[in-house]
Amino acid sequence: MTLLDNKTALVTGAAKGIGAAIAKAFVNEGAFVLVTDVDADGAKALATELGEQAAALTLDVSDPEAWAAAEAAVRERFGGLDILVNNAGITGFLETPGPHDPEHFDLESWRKVQAVNVEGTALGCQSAIRLMKDRPSGAIINLSSRSGVVGIPAAAAYAASKAAILNHTRTVALYCAEQGYPIRCNAILPAAVMTPMWDGMLGTGEARDAAIAGVEAGIPMGRFGRPEEVADTAVFLASDKSSYMTGGDIHLDGGILAGAQARPERAED
Ligand SMILES: NC(=O)c1ccc[n+]([C@@H]2O[C@H](COP(=O)([O-])OP(=O)(O)OC[C@H]3O[C@@H](n4cnc5c(N)ncnc54)[C@H](O)[C@@H]3O)[C@@H](O)[C@H]2O)c1
Repeated sequence: MTLLDNKTALVTGAAKGIGAAIAKAFVNEGAFVLVTDVDADGAKALATELGEQAAALTLDVSDPEAWAAAEAAVRERFGGLDILVNNAGITGFLETPGPHDPEHFDLESWRKVQAVNVEGTALGCQSAIRLMKDRPSGAIINLSSRSGVVGIPAAAAYAASKAAILNHTRTVALYCAEQGYPIRCNAILPAAVMTPMWDGMLGTGEARDAAIAGVEAGIPMGRFGRPEEVADTAVFLASDKSSYMTGGDIHLDGGILAGAQARPERAED
């Protein structure tokens, strides 16, 4: 008996990184997983690798029509949903022209980050509530970030979006409790997990090694996290092992937020 036997799960942004690790962990725990991503080929490749317990679905989380189509497809094939992971997210560094600091930010770039991170998560929660409310139980897991609780001068849109996700998690949890729906909603706040998201920030070659060492010097545990470590927490939040937890959040950051090193790097440093 594994933790997610007979559960149907949908994971967004699951073609790579943390989402892919969560999809794999859920399959290992007995769930059927819809591997969704805006990257159709990536989602298909992972679903094929995962075998009979997975299927791919192309889903751009910022597109309300794509969510409506996904919701209809899930209802038709499975009659409802047990687990949703709103994992898809962008920093905007690779996906938009920027810049992203509070003084000079580009409004279209800001909006794109909010559309994927905030609207994508809110639309996912909306579909999930409708697909879960008549099931015996449902679990929604939202990927916030350490950046949702501290300021990030060079990534204003991303930081604001992750704070919004954290608070929307609480709103969804309370709404479901208020309505008497058997749906729990919780957030994971990772920091410094080694995934392709870091590629643009770390560079390549020797510069990359130096950049990694620089980031690791600021992590109390002295290393980046692994996507599988986030997936273990997602399994916990998706399963009955967290049956009394809703509106909550779990930090996975190697201890970064346990202390205070408040002075940001100065431009001239
Ligand atoms: N890696 C970290 O250190 C870290 C830290 C804190 C929070 N997070 C959060 O964890 C989540 C996953 O991050 P990651 O590091 O695995 O990122 P990643 O960039 O490695 O992977 C993100 C995935 O999301 C997909 N995606 C992007 N836009 C999408 C859209 N509009 N619709 C559907 N899919 C889309 C991408 O195709 C990709 O497969 C994100 O929400 C991120 O903000 C990551």
